[in-house]
Amino acid sequence: MASDDLDREVWSEARELVASAAALVRELVEEGVGGFERLADAVPPAQNTQRTPSAPVPPTPRPRATPPFAARPTRPVEPNPLAVRASGGLAPTLESVRAELGDCRRCGLCEGRQQIVFGDGNPRAEILFVGEGPGEQEDRTGLPFVGRAGELLTQMIEKGMGIRRADVYICNIVKCRPPGNRNPLPPEVSACRPFLDGQITAVAPKVIVTLGKPAASLLLDREIPITRLRGTWHEYRGIPLMPTLHPAFVLRQYTPENRRAVWQDLKAALERARA
Ligand code: URA
Repeated sequence: MASDDLDREVWSEARELVASAAALVRELVEEGVGGFERLADAVPPAQNTQRTPSAPVPPTPRPRATPPFAARPTRPVEPNPLAVRASGGLAPTLESVRAELGDCRRCGLCEGRQQIVFGDGNPRAEILFVGEGPGEQEDRTGLPFVGRAGELLTQMIEKGMGIRRADVYICNIVKCRPPGNRNPLPPEVSACRPFLDGQITAVAPKVIVTLGKPAASLLLDREIPITRLRGTWHEYRGIPLMPTLHPAFVLRQYTPENRRAVWQDLKAALERARA
């Protein structure tokens, strides 16, 4: 590898680690951790010795980057509906996952919501879209992607892909509206995660399309630079995953490039689903 490429890769990994560390500190603070022991004080003296310069340095496995949204929740997460169903030998259905979710009060988002926005569409869809979280209109109607971003998504599906919106399945990382449309917080995302996983397992789509950075980062378990990684294939639990731009972002930056990018990604998703 050329040294420029190596430098770029090292810097990019360093940036990713710093971002992960910052996310971890935020999570710990949210969990009430008030301070940190100095590493030197925490390591037992026998291990706190200096390496001699000539000793070969064993390769240390790179610590796994802390997933940005997989924070430990502030209170125990309810049993994963998948596990619950699996223990009964039954695959989850959308109905069983919805029933498990119930009148959810697992995180603070329940305080401000009008309705839970579970998901919408064909329970046997070949393509499943994952957005971030309900906005005002979704909260009011109980349906995902029905506001302005939703109108654009619907157009992209119906006019762009040439299929009915009712033929795909659409859901979000979190099922309740974050106040003021802020990003969902790690404990909120963690609390909702089993239900998103349940929906994906129940629908068993041929392709997942994530809309925007948070959904891609959550399912791919690392910070995704969305403008760079959109349009490239990934996998979630063996299912091909295509990250694309969030329609709200496309509305904000309504450029021919962004529209073309999303169109290409959706076309690729459709082709893969039909292959
Ligand atoms: N944005 C999302 O991510 N999800 C919705 O349901 C609506 C807007």
